[in-house]
Amino acid sequence: MAPLTVPGGGRVGAWAISSVTVAPTHRRRGIARALLGSELRTAHALGVPLAILTVSESVIYGRWGFGPATYTTAWSIDTKRVRWAGAETPGRLSFTDPEDYRETGEAVLEAMAARAGEIGLEPYLAHRLIGPLKGDPDADKYRLVRYDSPTGEPEGFVSYTVKGDDDFTRHTIEVGYLAAATDEALTALWRFLLELDLVATVKVWTRGVDEPLPALVSDIRGAKVTDVQDHLWVRILDVPAALQARTYERDGSPGARRARRSRARGRPLPSDGARRPGRGGGDGGCARRDAAGRLAGRGLPRTRRRARPRHRGPDRGRRGCARPAVPHGGAPAAQHLVLAAHPTPRPRGRAGARPRPAPSCRVVTSCRNSARIRAPSHHSIGRTQSIRS
Ligand SMILES: CC(C)(COP(=O)(O)OP(=O)(O)OC[C@H]1O[C@@H](n2cnc3c(N)ncnc32)[C@H](O)[C@@H]1OP(=O)(O)O)[C@@H](O)C(=O)NCCC(=O)NCCS
Repeated sequence: MAPLTVPGGGRVGAWAISSVTVAPTHRRRGIARALLGSELRTAHALGVPLAILTVSESVIYGRWGFGPATYTTAWSIDTKRVRWAGAETPGRLSFTDPEDYRETGEAVLEAMAARAGEIGLEPYLAHRLIGPLKGDPDADKYRLVRYDSPTGEPEGFVSYTVKGDDDFTRHTIEVGYLAAATDEALTALWRFLLELDLVATVKVWTRGVDEPLPALVSDIRGAKVTDVQDHLWVRILDVPAALQARTYERDGSPGARRARRSRARGRPLPSDGARRPGRGGGDGGCARRDAAGRLAGRGLPRTRRRARPRHRGPDRGRRGCARPAVPHGGAPAAQHLVLAAHPTPRPRGRAGARPRPAPSCRVVTSCRNSARIRAPSHHSIGRTQSIRS
């Protein structure tokens, strides 16, 4: 069992399934079907509201009611290009031996598990994130750096390896895991990684979709999202127990949404309340296919059309687009993912229907800021959506 934290800080019991493998000699005979069925029946019989897993192939687990609930990003950072623009941090960084840091690291990970979308980790899994397990042939290549607050409280750590390059000023850092229970720890550990001497590239995986890195460096194009992937998949076994455990930012009932829209347009509410609910029904707007993602409080960052400036003013270029405005007080307002879709037809569909790419075949090929705003110029704010919103 691994408790999953949901928005509002509640924790829902989750039946964690891992290492689903069938010997190649016995595949496609229904063994995985029997295994998964028995896991789900056991969890249900024990009253566990959720089952969770991570997947190697995204097309397999939908048939058992699993859906992607959280997403992760991978980053490649050109450290010769980015310059630190974040805050100073008051705490202390130091190298540490993974063996000595096990218990402390577990406490840091436990503090992190209080965030929506995270799960509490068994010690075995926590130790895998902290440092190499016994017998790992690359154990001596690992480095572990801890961050402690000014009062000596452990708040974060990063494990990494250094990959050599013929040009010894251009090594690559591959981050094993970056854990931060506080903003200070995250800031300090990012700065440590980005300012390492003789390093040209830092590669990091399994960061959240709301990673604040772009806000910490001057040239954000030196820090690229190289991948966005589904991470945790959830099957909801007990819908009321699962959804009642989380809180919502606001009332999503049709009446409340209608009232909000009317207020935004400055119109009085229709007195008869006769309008139909919009798409998504009356249960807080939760479409069923989105339920797993909504439960964990995260969704795939949606791409939005570039904001079209309605006015041409002194801060606009010739074609009405915002100029690169950092020197004049601007900042990126929205980010824009470029998606490539492999033309794999859906396995099932209406006869004669045009094949559409399977959602799992969309790959992020680049992530750029797509609109810039200057502080006093507010035209575009309401029309763009940040990847972090
Ligand atoms: C994936 C794996 C566990 C499936 O085991 P299996 O015993 O062959 O699967 P089953 O025969 O029970 O198949 C159950 C269903 O899954 C489908 N399926 C199985 N493997 C699939 C795959 N790789 N891609 C798409 N569908 C697959 C089957 O077609 C069947 O579909 P149906 O419900 O329409 O009949 C097995 O192929 C395996 O071990 N693969 C390598 C390791 C791996 O990928 N593990 C998953 C870790 S998350």
